[in-house]
Amino acid sequence: MRQAGRYMPQYRELRRRHTFLEICRNPELIVATTLLPIDLLDVDAAILFADILLLAEPMGFKLHFDDHQGPLLSPQLGSTRAVDAIPPSPDNIYEVFSGTAAAIRELKRILKIPLIGFAAAPFTLASYLIEGRTSRDLSVTKRWLIEDPESFHALLEKICSYTVEYLRLQAEAGAAALQLFDSWACQLSPSQFASVCVPYVEKLRNSLPDIPIIYFCRGTGCYIDELARMKVDVISADWSCDLAQLRGALPATMAIQGNLDPIWLYAKPHEAASIVRRLLDEVFPDPAYIFNLGHGIPPDVPLETVQAVVAAVKEYSR
Ligand code: CP3
Repeated sequence: MRQAGRYMPQYRELRRRHTFLEICRNPELIVATTLLPIDLLDVDAAILFADILLLAEPMGFKLHFDDHQGPLLSPQLGSTRAVDAIPPSPDNIYEVFSGTAAAIRELKRILKIPLIGFAAAPFTLASYLIEGRTSRDLSVTKRWLIEDPESFHALLEKICSYTVEYLRLQAEAGAAALQLFDSWACQLSPSQFASVCVPYVEKLRNSLPDIPIIYFCRGTGCYIDELARMKVDVISADWSCDLAQLRGALPATMAIQGNLDPIWLYAKPHEAASIVRRLLDEVFPDPAYIFNLGHGIPPDVPLETVQAVVAAVKEYSR
């Protein structure tokens, strides 16, 4: 969950010399950036340095990261006809992501801890393709879903077929688990969530080799019943839900990850550490809980606070 990033002086230094996309496309830089949090934070798992939007390119979209506006995709997907124009067969994924595969193989050789690969969950990638950028309310996406559900589902199907290939490449190269990010699921009603998120995540799950699947969605607290029925191995929670309630609803075979609001990283290091201990007291001694944040690390938090949080978790579990 954004382990590496602008809160790290070492990452900022790398970004002075390379654009974000240059790093994402260069195997040596992917390896170096993925390793940064391992050296600086001593976390128990690494997450591949990449982005959920990279998959838009083999689907025919141009991706650009603007320092002020964030990600921009063009053309903005505007109509049923444009869905038809997306190449039906994702046969260039292994070519486009050969650098990613090489980086994963090298990381597998170097790392003594598991490497997590990832992709967007289909609904969230669809929302970026439709909006062309980060949108706070997803009004264009939700209007499309209401006006033309058939083409919306056709788009999700197409995204699924690309995502399966992309995740298969990561699994084959050596990822130990795969995380799906449904960052914008929080804009849906529970019944829309059941219709546009759940079936496509399960489709991915069923099309992939036997590898643990972690599902993250924002708005976790709104969808507890749907999540409990979902066929994934780990639910990665934001901070909208009560952990005891989530644990009570999920089958014992499903692990839970996350839940700490990253805004706590703005507290003083000792305060953030004590909030972490309080959270762990709540879940202790659940063996199926993985400490993580409820979303990514903000770019301007002090590195020392992130280090204090990781140290508090390690101390607690000793
Ligand atoms: O943690 C890691 O080291 C893995 C890398 C990772 C990134 N993005 C790198 C990144 C992961 C897991 C992601 C996932 C991702 N990307 C999501 C899902 C998680 C979430 O945040 O909800 C989303 C929605 C994106 C799309 C995205 N990428 C946005 C909206 C932005 C801009 C936001 C911002 O902070 O400017 C990015 C850029 C991005 N992806 C950065 C990093 C390190 C910052 C890029 C930079 O300027 O250096």
